[in-house]
Order: sequence, then C-alpha cells, then structure tokens
Amino acid sequence: MFNPMNLTDRKILVTGASSGIGRETSILLSKLGAQLVLTGRRKEELEKTLSLMEGINHLVLPFELSDFDNYKNLFNEACYDDKKLDGLVHCAGIAKTIPLRILSYELMLETMKINYFAFLELVKHYAKKKYSNGGSIVGISAINAHMPRKCMSLYAGSKGALEASIKTLALELHESKIRINSVVPGAINTEMAQKYASLVSSEQVDNILDGQLMLMGNPDDVANVIAFLLSDASKFVTGRHYYVDGGRL
Ligand SMILES: NC(=O)c1ccc[n+]([C@@H]2O[C@H](COP(=O)([O-])OP(=O)(O)OC[C@H]3O[C@@H](n4cnc5c(N)ncnc54)[C@H](OP(=O)(O)O)[C@@H]3O)[C@@H](O)[C@H]2O)c1
Repeated sequence: MFNPMNLTDRKILVTGASSGIGRETSILLSKLGAQLVLTGRRKEELEKTLSLMEGINHLVLPFELSDFDNYKNLFNEACYDDKKLDGLVHCAGIAKTIPLRILSYELMLETMKINYFAFLELVKHYAKKKYSNGGSIVGISAINAHMPRKCMSLYAGSKGALEASIKTLALELHESKIRINSVVPGAINTEMAQKYASLVSSEQVDNILDGQLMLMGNPDDVANVIAFLLSDASKFVTGRHYYVDGGRL
C-alpha cells in the first residue's frame, strides 16, 4: 500500500532518544522503515528505546552534546558503514525553571549549549557531503518562546534562538538539497513536563493546560509531525515552524 510517509532505508540521527519525545519519535520512525542512530547520555535508556523499536541495523551512540570537540567522532561513528544520513532530529533539550535573580553565566551557558549551540553544531556536521546527501532536519522549539511563563526566560530565549535560525539555515542548505524546519510543542507529558509540574503550583499547571484546547499532549502527537517533516510527504516545505500545541489559540 502507498504510504507518503514511508521512510524505508532512510538513516536518521535522533538526539534525546533516551526519553520522552525523542524516544517516541525513534519508535515511530523505525515503524516507518527508517534505520535509526540513537543518541543521549544514558546508555541503558537508549537500549530501552531500541528494545521498543522495529527493524534492524539501528545504532546506539551515547554522546554528551556539550562535548563540542567530539561531534566529528559522533558523525564518523554514525556513518561507519559508509551509509550517509537522510535525516536529523534534535530532540535533546533542558528546561530549567530559573528566577532571574539567580541566573548566572554558567546556567545560561549550560542551557544554550544543549538547546541551541548543539543544534547548530549538529546541522553543520550533517550538512557535510561526507555525512549526508540532502534530506531533512527537524529542530524542536517550545511554545514558551511565544507564550511567557515566569522563570523561563533562559529556556524561552534558547528556543527563540533555534527558531530564528531556521530560515537562514533553510537558505544556506537549499543548494545541498537539505530541508530544515522546526516543531513547536505545547505541554507534552514527558519527564521534562513532570519535573516542571513538580516545581510550580498546581494552579500554574492548570493555567498552562487551560490554554491548550486539547489539554496535555503526548509524545506521539509530536512524533507524528516530526515524521511528516522527515518524509517526502513534506518535500515542498522548508524554513517553517509547525505548532503542535493542542490548539493554543
Ligand atoms: N515536554 C514538553 O512539554 C515540551 C514542550 C515543548 C518543547 N519540548 C522540547 O522537546 C524536546 C524533548 O523534550 P522531552 O519532553 O522529551 O524531554 P525529556 O524527556 O526530559 O528528554 C530530554 C532528552 O534530552 C537529552 N539530553 C539532555 N541533556 C543532554 C546532554 N547534555 N547531552 C545529550 N543529551 C542530553 C536527554 O538524554 P540523557 O539524559 O540520556 O542525556 C533526554 O533524552 C526538548 O527540546 C524540549 O525542550 C518539550
């Protein structure tokens, strides 16, 4: 049966594959036929993701994304079999709830490294002819970049930076036949959302969910849109932002 989202034989690198949206995305992409390269720091959680996936020839490559001297090794290992990448998804992210008065340069750097600098470094390596031949890249932003929440200025800024880069990158990557887009999730039920809920009042959580017509989303809601953006079903789409926020109107 014809499936425009078929990803058979596409090789796709997913960061943050050890948890939440990255895990669910990896499972879905494997069901669509893709060969996955799973990264994250926790090897046991990456192995758990692998155990939930379909297909063979997937790779588990534990990697610390703030290790900027080692991206070349990550991509060399991802392409060890001379098969280049067809897609990249940057799901890894950190969302610290930090009041302005205790914001320090170290905290700023920690978040920017993973949410934004890592994204640029991944895209830079992916774009090398040695590692890919065209394909599609998806960055994960967050609704916080558009809807203000107290104590989230750093997180919102890191996601705003990612979104702001997408159009320029789309221009630069077009000649290499690489598309690039971002997904902007609302509140999604993952470890990250549970950690946030444990730090704020139940009223604040209710306020957030009240803004989402469909209340809390699930990781597969985001994974479906990521799969669409990686597949040929979106072959005429680049430089765009897709909201997956349960109707935050
Ligand atoms: N959940 C939400 O409500 C929501 C809403 C909007 C946007 N988002 C965005 O969606 C993305 C996925 O979030 P999630 O909810 O799935 O979060 P999650 O369950 O907390 O997963 C975060 C992932 O990031 C990885 N990671 C964190 N620091 C890393 C580092 N230094 N090096 C390598 N990997 C690192 C973690 O892997 P290890 O711990 O194994 O390293 C984990 O796999 C994030 O970019 C987040 O900002 C989430």
